[in-house]
Amino acid sequence: MSEVVIHKGLENIVITETKLSYIDGEKGILYYAGYPIEDLAKYSSFEEVCFLLWHNRLPSRKELDELKRSIRENAEIPWEVVDLMRKAPKKAHPMDIMRTAVSALGPYDPELEDNSREANIRKSIRLQAKVGTITAYIYRIKEGLAVIPPSKKLDYAANFLYMMFGKEPDELSSKIMDVALILHAEHELPASTTAALTTISTLSDIYSAVVSGIAALKGPLHGGANEKALEMLKEIKSPERAEEYIKKALAEKKRIMGFGHRVYKAYDPRARIFKEYFKKLCEQRNDWTMYRTAEKVEEVMISLLGHKGIFPNIDFYSGAVYDMLGIPSYLFTPMFAMARTSGWTAHIIEYLQDNRLIRPRAHYTGQLDLKYIPIEQR
Ligand code: SDX
Repeated sequence: MSEVVIHKGLENIVITETKLSYIDGEKGILYYAGYPIEDLAKYSSFEEVCFLLWHNRLPSRKELDELKRSIRENAEIPWEVVDLMRKAPKKAHPMDIMRTAVSALGPYDPELEDNSREANIRKSIRLQAKVGTITAYIYRIKEGLAVIPPSKKLDYAANFLYMMFGKEPDELSSKIMDVALILHAEHELPASTTAALTTISTLSDIYSAVVSGIAALKGPLHGGANEKALEMLKEIKSPERAEEYIKKALAEKKRIMGFGHRVYKAYDPRARIFKEYFKKLCEQRNDWTMYRTAEKVEEVMISLLGHKGIFPNIDFYSGAVYDMLGIPSYLFTPMFAMARTSGWTAHIIEYLQDNRLIRPRAHYTGQLDLKYIPIEQR
């Protein structure tokens, strides 16, 4: 048998071509469909980024208005799905509720089994519209509050905050939520998108493939890190305590959540943008403690592990920003899934244009030709 090379975790293995995003891990650069993430965060909107990912070009004003209208029109979810969410055990993990709700949505979609590009784009719009509502309803139900149906006039990011808190958000909060959705929308083939592609490659349906993505994103090595990063910042409390805390954690071989990345060996450009908006929020609230603590953690971590390519990733500042918007940490990963539904569906649509069943191999290291012994003789 020729020399077997095992690529554990499919590290650096290229399994397909894509036009959806380009990451230069060494330089810390990210493009969506050719546009630098910095420009999209500054000038675009989440709905425009959804269009860009689904159609590989920016929309005209008419196309964007039509997409925003369609998302608003499709934002309601069937009452049976709301009921299912309400009936979940009180202790259910929010990502399990999200996974269950999205799974339950599938049979209500008349085009569920149609894997044509056009049908999958229509389903992506419906799915994207509904995951925002599902995420807000997870919060309302967990807090024991009545759900607030989506507004018919707000854009996606503002509508999400409206369904959460029952009032139209201020301009800065809407802009920050919109940027957060853009930054989380797409990132090539992380574990969750790979899970979604593996599912669709069998010609399953787009809802099932998104459910696979949600299931994979739940894990703390992928989606759950911003919740843990925020907990850490709250535990450290002040900049003065950062260095001792980090050094102790590293000595105990702990992973510092919000740092390191399989692809970025430089500062994650998304973390840089989040940090900018974190600063704007601190200015508006005149509350700097968390910011100064986070900056000190970043300084210490880079001084100790920067040489190993370990820098802040998207999860380091996002949790602190959401916390300042009054969003509880249990909702952070569902919000990540809500935004990444655009990237997952875009990759599903793209991959199906040149589908190949995903079926890797495993190198067998067990025994062969063993003699079967009847149970009476064992
Ligand atoms: C996301 O893939 C994507 O694109 C994901 C994502 C997306 O948009 O979809 O970007 C979102 O998942 C961001 C990452 C969020 N996760 C975390 O912040 C969790 C903490 N980070 C790590 O556990 C780790 O950095 C990973 C899992 C993200 C990546 O790790 P790798 O590539 O598997 O690297 P590794 O585990 O082999 O670590 C290499 C070395 C090890 O040291 P040695 O054994 O060589 O001495 O770096 C060390 C690790 O101990 N290391 C860390 C560390 N991350 C790596 N040490 C301390 N703290 C960390 N966070």
